[in-house]
Amino acid sequence: MKPNEKPANLILRNGRVIDPAQGLDAVATVVIENGKVVEVGPNIEIGAQRRGEFEQIDAGGKWVVPGLIDMHVHLREPGEEYKETIASGTRAAVAGGFTAVACMPNTRPVNDCAAVTQFILKKAAEEGACRVFPVGAISKGLEGRNLCELGELRASGVVAVSDDGRPVESSMLMRRALEYAKTFGLLVISHCEDLGLSSGGLMNEGRVSTRLGLRGIPRAAEEVMAARDILLAELTGARLHLAHISSAGSVALIREAKKRGLQVTAETAPHYFTLDEELLSTFNPVYKVNPPVRTREDMEAIKAGLADGTLDAIASDHAPHSAVEKDLEFEYAANGMIGLESSLPLILRLVRQSILSPLDAIAKVSQNPARILSIPFGTLAKGAAADLTVIDPEATYTIDARKFESKSRNCPFDGMEAQGRAVMTFIDGRVVFTAPD
Ligand code: DOR
Repeated sequence: MKPNEKPANLILRNGRVIDPAQGLDAVATVVIENGKVVEVGPNIEIGAQRRGEFEQIDAGGKWVVPGLIDMHVHLREPGEEYKETIASGTRAAVAGGFTAVACMPNTRPVNDCAAVTQFILKKAAEEGACRVFPVGAISKGLEGRNLCELGELRASGVVAVSDDGRPVESSMLMRRALEYAKTFGLLVISHCEDLGLSSGGLMNEGRVSTRLGLRGIPRAAEEVMAARDILLAELTGARLHLAHISSAGSVALIREAKKRGLQVTAETAPHYFTLDEELLSTFNPVYKVNPPVRTREDMEAIKAGLADGTLDAIASDHAPHSAVEKDLEFEYAANGMIGLESSLPLILRLVRQSILSPLDAIAKVSQNPARILSIPFGTLAKGAAADLTVIDPEATYTIDARKFESKSRNCPFDGMEAQGRAVMTFIDGRVVFTAPD
């Protein structure tokens, strides 16, 4: 993000302001001065002599929410700029209503040292459309052998560490990572996968994989690792976050860990509550993702986990791939799907289905990821940076991946009828995205 050109003064009127951090869901006015929220409430009037200093926006019929935060994306830069760049990925973010993203370290080179973190932060400052929070690697080169210099990574600006894309296979290395991360106040994000169990798997293991003749990945591949890491969080007293949760059993394990008072948080992604394994019958590689989309029962368990707070956050796991890796026979295609520009309508669907209240839905993509990552965003409280998203909850349209800002097109929701979208996105009170009519 470029430094503030001009401090923004702005008044948004008549919007339904939904700010979970303040427990606020009411029609209200938001006043922004010098890029910060200065007042939120009903019937706020600005003295006539100052009125000219503020741009006025009528948000009638719209939701005004804290700038959305996607805590799990792959921006692919450095190294795979033909799939995505920090510039294109952050443009996709603001178009989807996101004002901040946390980007995973499985770039080339891997973000396993200060130089790579600093490169990402510099690029983001120069070319990024939104705030970028790098996640550093746990192990050098994501190879699972040697621990990174977590203190150096912390000092250079990472908000968490993860070997995402790969599990940390050695329990001892994970234990050490949690211990060191704790001393540096760093969050550890776990990609839960037992490689022995998932090895060679292409989709969820079960009736459908048997019918299709595709090798399956059992739920236990995720659950064994979720259980291990929960136990290691208990052993070390460190904070642990479980990424892209896809299975009913993992939800049960996390629920139980929270009951025991462990510092464990978790996220799921829209595809895990929207898509089921039956779609794999098409053999379309756009549905290939790791962990795989699972059964209707798993989808219901994910929704229940979101509803009762077991799953704290929804993150897209935006994983861009080009046709070269993705448009291949199912077996050879890369894992991953893009999500930054399709997440919001899928989350809003949970509200229409009465699974989440508007406050809870917005919390999963603002207050909660901000809290988990320890970043001072995700609220419209007085004094906060004026990062906000104006949502039209009624807008109906067909998702068209050809119009995406992302460089990649591997979107399984392409062509889907959707309702609800971001119409304006603001960072520090300045407009960074306006939806075309
Ligand atoms: O499907 C996936 N794609 N899962 C991961 O964990 C990594 C990601 C990627 O980087 O493409």
